[in-house]
Formats: sequence, C-alpha cells, structure tokens
Amino acid sequence: MATTLICDEQRRVVPPMTGRQRFLAAARMRPVDTTPVWFMRQAGRSLPEYRALREQHDFMTVATTPELAAEATLMPVKRLGVDAAVLFADIMLPLACLGIPFEIRQGIGPVIPDPIRSRADVERLGFAPAAGATPYVLEALRQLKTELGERAALLGFAGAPFTLACYLIEGKPAREFPRAKALMYGEPETWHALMEALTRVTIDYLREQVAAGADAVQLFDSWLGLLDPETYETMALPYTRRIFAAAAPLAPTIHFSTGTVALLEKIAGSGCAAVSVDWRQPLDVAWARLGPSVGIQGNLDPALALAPWPAVERGARDVLRRAKGRAGHIFNLGHGILPQTDPETLAGVVRVVHGEA
Ligand code: CP3
Repeated sequence: MATTLICDEQRRVVPPMTGRQRFLAAARMRPVDTTPVWFMRQAGRSLPEYRALREQHDFMTVATTPELAAEATLMPVKRLGVDAAVLFADIMLPLACLGIPFEIRQGIGPVIPDPIRSRADVERLGFAPAAGATPYVLEALRQLKTELGERAALLGFAGAPFTLACYLIEGKPAREFPRAKALMYGEPETWHALMEALTRVTIDYLREQVAAGADAVQLFDSWLGLLDPETYETMALPYTRRIFAAAAPLAPTIHFSTGTVALLEKIAGSGCAAVSVDWRQPLDVAWARLGPSVGIQGNLDPALALAPWPAVERGARDVLRRAKGRAGHIFNLGHGILPQTDPETLAGVVRVVHGEA
C-alpha cells in the first residue's frame, strides 16, 4: 500500500514529463509530475473542427479512412492539451471480423440489420483476423504513432463482449436491452457461444492495435450496469478476464463501465490495470473499494461540464482532492463528453488538472 501513496510534496520532485510519459506512468501506478487527463468522446461533436469534418464525410468514412481518422484523433490533442489521444473509431468496427453488417445512425447509434437471435446465427459467424478485416484501424494507429511522438499517449480500444452482444442481439440501442438479456437468461449456451466468438475477435483486435502502436488499451463495457453481481460473474466477467489476461502483458489496460457501483470489487479482479468509474460514487470511496493494486480513471459528471465555470472548477478540484495525488489516477469524465459542451470548458479543466490554473 505504501508504494502507491505519494503525497503532493513528493510529486514536486518528479521531473517534468511529456504527456505520454505522464499517462503511462499513471497507468502503471508510478509517480507523475502532475495528474494526466483525457476525455472520453474528446474527438467528437463538441469540437467545431470535428463538425466541419463531418459535414464533408459521413461517420464511417472518417472511421475507415486512416488519414481522416488520424486527423479527428489529433483534434482534441491540439485544442485541449490532453495527455492521451484516443483513436477515432467505434466499438462496432471489429464486427467486420465476424462478418456482421452494421450501420452507425446519427443521433441513434449502432444498428444491426440482421440481429443475432439463435444458435444458428452464432454458428454462422466468421473469424477474420483484424489485420485483414480492419486494416484501416491499424494504419490509423501507425500514422498517429509517428505524428504524436511524446506529446500524448496513443490509446486503442475495443467494446467488451457483453456490450457488443447487447447491440448484436437487440439490433439497436435500447434502454434496458430486454431482448439481449432474455437470450442471455433463456439460452445460456447460445449466449456463451456468442461471447466466445466476441472474445476471440477482441483479443486479436487489441493485440494488433498494440502491435500497430497503441500505448494502452481501454475496454468499453458501457452497458454492464444492467447486470447484478452474480450474473456478471458468470455471464460477462470470465470473458473480460480472458481479454485482460491476453492484453495485460502487452500494454496497460483500462476497464470502462458506468452505473456499476454494485460490481466494483468484481471489476477490480478482472485483471485490468485501471478501472474507469463514473460520478455515482465519490472517487475516494470507489478507489477504497477497488483496492490499492489497481489505478482509477474518472470521474467528473459530463453534465457538470455544461454548468457555469465556477461549478465545473469546483467539481474538478473535488475529484483531485479525493485522489490525493496518489499514483494511479487518470483524470477523465465518468462517461463521454456531451455534444453541447463548450471546448473552452474542457481546456479549462485540463489546466486545472495540470496545476496551471
Ligand atoms: O473521442 C472518442 O472517444 C472517439 C472515439 C469513439 C467513438 N465511439 C466515436 C464516435 C469511441 C471510443 C467510441 C466508443 C463507443 N461507441 C461506445 C463506448 C463508449 C460509450 O459512450 O459508452 C459506444 C457505446 C459506441 C456506440 C456508438 N457509436 C454510439 C452510442 C454512438 C452515438 C450516436 C450518436 O450520434 O449520438 C456512436 C457514433 C459515434 N462514435 C460518434 C462518435 C464521435 C458520434 C458520431 C457522429 O459524428 O455522428
């Protein structure tokens, strides 16, 4: 425990770091010169330059053209000064490895025209290596690696099998994903077969991302909050564990979910290096539950970033106060930036976190 505690006094003796060094040190629970920060959905509609890019190209064109994906990825690094650049892509892209067609509809999200509803549907799935099925993702990472240098860590990511399965079975975004959960409870064999296929693809996809230059990877399990602890343990956690066991020797790993206050201790045991937590619990309380051997990412409420600046600043300082300068904190929001957020507010948060304001 003592090794993970560094007080603010000790911090000052850490020599200045580059954004990349700062992020990677925190992800490895080592001392940092100042807290690293990035924002989920930082390359998105809150940025006028992203909206301008999207006026010229649709979402999938940007995501599957390495030059455009790299351009979108770099936008928040240039404008906000964040310490990590998250690849512009989507959790749906590796479905190409399984041969599942999908669309990303604006204002709605992922849509699967032929959802998975039976064992036969799962058995029809293919398995194409990521290098052949999603070459644009890997090429974008290679280009970014060169362009970013030490400025910011390059973050790869994938959707977790549970969250991907929710979309694949439901066919579209839903509040409670009732069809997906009904299949999980009613046809566990079909569920496990689908989770196996998704796990296999995700491991290959993340490995290839690290080989192409990703410094760290985040696993997005956005809908995990739909599960109780026991169901999580049997229906989702074994697959998450396998993914982290495969990825952890290659690069630092971050587990993302929201609404999972009931699952935190179990998530801490998934084998990730850091756990992203949302705002539903204070950061210090969440970290005490996660234990001293994992880092923590978070946890400002994205909706707070829409409030007048004094309230945002108070919120950001409260998160820092609760982290107490302990090694292993990566500042972020608890979930993605809301599209109506003023980028100036986000730049202000970066300055506060970096101790420049
Ligand atoms: O800065 C970044 O985070 C960019 C990379 C990124 C995107 N999607 C780009 C994107 C990442 C990391 C994601 C992950 C993602 N995609 C998740 C997990 C994170 C979370 O929010 O929980 C999920 C659930 C998806 C599925 C998805 N794709 C949704 C729900 C949407 C939003 C639909 C909408 O229009 O509101 C998308 C589309 C999408 N993916 C956008 C972006 C920037 C908006 C697209 C646009 O330009 O029209």
